[in-house]
Amino acid sequence: MSKKLFIKTWGCQMNVYDSARMADVLAPLGYRPVDDADGADMVILNTCHIREKAAEKVFSELGRLRTLKDRKAVVEGQRMILAVAGCVAQAEGEEIVARAPYVDIVFGPQTYHTLPEMVARAHRAAGAVLNTEFPAESKFDHLPDEAGIEGATAFLAVQEGCDKFCTFCVVPYTRGAEYSRPAAQVLAEARRLVAAGVRDINLLGQNVNAYHGADADGGTWSLARLIYALAEIDGLERIRYTTSHPRDMGDDLIAAHAAVPQLMPYLHLPIQAGSDRILAAMNRRHTADDYRRLVDKLRTAKPDLALSGDFIVGYPGESDADFAATLRLVQDVGYAQAYSFKYSPRPGTPAAVDDTQVPEDVKSARLSALQQLLDAQQAAFNQGFVGRTVPVLFDRAGKRTGQIQGRSPWMQSVYVQAPERLLGAIVPVRIDSAHTNSLAGTVETGMVTTGTGVHPLSPATMETRA
Ligand code: SAH
Ligand code: SF4
Ligand code: F3S
Repeated sequence: MSKKLFIKTWGCQMNVYDSARMADVLAPLGYRPVDDADGADMVILNTCHIREKAAEKVFSELGRLRTLKDRKAVVEGQRMILAVAGCVAQAEGEEIVARAPYVDIVFGPQTYHTLPEMVARAHRAAGAVLNTEFPAESKFDHLPDEAGIEGATAFLAVQEGCDKFCTFCVVPYTRGAEYSRPAAQVLAEARRLVAAGVRDINLLGQNVNAYHGADADGGTWSLARLIYALAEIDGLERIRYTTSHPRDMGDDLIAAHAAVPQLMPYLHLPIQAGSDRILAAMNRRHTADDYRRLVDKLRTAKPDLALSGDFIVGYPGESDADFAATLRLVQDVGYAQAYSFKYSPRPGTPAAVDDTQVPEDVKSARLSALQQLLDAQQAAFNQGFVGRTVPVLFDRAGKRTGQIQGRSPWMQSVYVQAPERLLGAIVPVRIDSAHTNSLAGTVETGMVTTGTGVHPLSPATMETRA
């Protein structure tokens, strides 16, 4: 009999990916995803611990779910299995068990391949099953093939964990040490995705460019080597990767941006701050000028490369002058888009116990100044596309009826009025107007495209790709 599974996900793309894989693991047990927790047989909260209030949000969500769980027991005489997964579970598993005893399972990011066993134990046992180990074996060797691949774009996890220990960040503690999946395993999964209709693969990792996957001959492959191999897969037209660390941006990877036409001209390359003093305190182990030089090299290799970044304002000890250096760096580099955050002290990280914390109002003022600059850069970047024709891979329905939506090579969201049969196709679109977070355009008939190029071709061919 089919059972209802509801998963709520917070956090990064890796967490989104994990949630999909949890559903894959539970499918053989009869669990089918639903989009409401009410009445579900199992609810998983896949949590994030990166910034403040994460744990509080989980506890308040749990309070609400407890009511649904009680109701299911009374109305249906059935038990709702309640599980907390992800980075809050990893960091605060014992506290969850203590504070919310009605939770049945608490498990971290590295153990979800054992979900069937955990569910069986939860059914047998009265107390909570807590599983926040970092097992020696990799979950990737035990996960089933991806089920239910839908659409033309997909994420593929190739690397996980982090050994960098930036002083503000919980990821090395919640995800564990850096691990790369073997190259053959990644290639096999990519082929499966492409066979199922995927044309754009985004290689995923917390430090994806630190990838060093084992090959069959006892050697290791770099991310660049992996990208060259992926580029051989027929039908895979777009390759991306995220998130990168500046220190792992090897020359071979920079060269791949020039050499591999399928590698899209968009790179998320966080620096966090523009002051060398703050970068050193953060343990980033590179300077702002190292980063500027890296950007120059990348743009020499790929002149139209669009850059994205992450920034933290108000790191402990950050002065007005330090913050001004961040604004200067943003001015110098020019971002197509970026994410920016107020520093949030995370329990267990070195920066949290620094006694030079920046007052909240100063953080807020700096964040809004930075965001004003980043928004202006993003608007200018997008505005530069008006009147141009760009190849768009349509992968979902738009917000309004008759609209479909997709991505440009530069990761911009583009929407047009067009029939749904163009979903899955790469189609040339003339950009009519630009907004902060999206572009609006019109499909150019009579042309189709591959990768980033636009070639004249008959409309009939265009339709067969849909
Ligand atoms: N591995 C990636 C980032 C992962 S976390 C990298 O090294 O760039 C995603 C982003 O969250 C970080 O880039 C950082 O900007 C932000 N972040 C992480 N910890 C934070 C904290 N304690 N306070 C505020 N922002 C934080
Ligand atoms: Fe966190 Fe730094 Fe690792 Fe990124 S590189 S995940 S910011 S510790
Ligand atoms: Fe959050 Fe964990 Fe991702 S803390 S950002 S879900 S790695």
